[in-house]
Amino acid sequence: MSDIDIDFYESEDPIWNPALLAIPMPGIRKMVNLAATMEDVIHLSIGQPDLLAPRHVVDATVDALHAGQTGYTMDAGLPELLEALADYYGERYQRTLLPENILVTTGATEAIYLALTSTSAPGREFIVPDPAFMLYAPLIRMNGGSVKSIATRAEHNHQLDPQEVIDAMDQNTCAVVLNSPSNPTGTVYPRETIEAIVEEAAYRGIYVISDEVYDHLVYDGKPFPSVLSCCSDLDHVMVVSSFSKTFSMAGMRVGWLIASQGAIRKLRRYHMFTTTVANTPCQWAGVAALKGERTFVNDMLAEYSRRRDRLVELVDQTPYLTGYKPEGAFYMFPSLPEGINGNNVALRLLKETGVCTIPGQTFGDSCGNALRISYSTSIDRIEAAFERMIPWMEKQDFA
Ligand SMILES: Cc1ncc(COP(=O)(O)O)c(C=O)c1O
Repeated sequence: MSDIDIDFYESEDPIWNPALLAIPMPGIRKMVNLAATMEDVIHLSIGQPDLLAPRHVVDATVDALHAGQTGYTMDAGLPELLEALADYYGERYQRTLLPENILVTTGATEAIYLALTSTSAPGREFIVPDPAFMLYAPLIRMNGGSVKSIATRAEHNHQLDPQEVIDAMDQNTCAVVLNSPSNPTGTVYPRETIEAIVEEAAYRGIYVISDEVYDHLVYDGKPFPSVLSCCSDLDHVMVVSSFSKTFSMAGMRVGWLIASQGAIRKLRRYHMFTTTVANTPCQWAGVAALKGERTFVNDMLAEYSRRRDRLVELVDQTPYLTGYKPEGAFYMFPSLPEGINGNNVALRLLKETGVCTIPGQTFGDSCGNALRISYSTSIDRIEAAFERMIPWMEKQDFA
């Protein structure tokens, strides 16, 4: 790809912990940095909602600041937010959660960091779908654990075969990492898939670490099968989510982790040694988000659903791209013909048409011939991007 990034991980300087070698050069950064040097770029690369956070949420942040809420909260999180989250989940999934089952973190990112780095160790294996959100594998590998990938394919809507996951479990398996709706595929796993994996994992004493940050972005009126609604107890699950996507609060950095009280006690201590506590005024914003009216979420869902439908049509009209209908999040992960290098295609697309997508390889080894397309941008922009991409693809010879 381009050489515009300075790759410090590959530097010879002995100061760096060799574990940093597990962190790849992020494909997203490469593309976005290159795009920043160009004019007239259309981004289909965006990983956060393009809508403003709801007004009452912003007001709650400002009010908290004016009220002097600028100190640390309790280590587990602001008590009012822990209560609000317990009530919200209790109502959503009809199961009793106590504030002691929840740890408030600096975005879902910290929750994922805590979950993976507190369990990964040499000799331990983690089953991870491929493609997957790019944080999981490096965090596992940095701490000595290994990744067993389960490849999914565009032709099957990137659905995970639960039996394949179960067959991959052995005496070294420490955890299965799930992310539904998925970044980068937008795939939502059906209840049967989640139930089969959760049940077998619990039986074998294996954890299921479930990243549910897109849990409200599920289209076509379908229910969302959370791991929390598929497990009888919390003994072998850690569920992660945040306000980033649902309320367009990505920069406010508030997320959480839900687990058994014993696991939360352990992770609370680790959290204190990691980030101390999450941002205090933004935790008040979170209380307002959970307790306030939800028209924002419904409007966002309706808008993204329209964009998704249009994107499906456009990908269908694009030579060499095999798409499918993603059921959640705001991504599609279409594939190019087998053997075609997605890195080269993404780079050439950017340089020759000004359309910025993310190469599939960013999300796993099995996806070298894919592109991640985000529809977190207006329908006009999506259409303008394909007005450039379709004629460009027509000129290629990828057969
Ligand atoms: C699957 C997934 N998990 C976690 C995150 C990070 O979320 P947060 O902003 O809450 O740290 C993202 C952000 O793009 C994501 O796509």
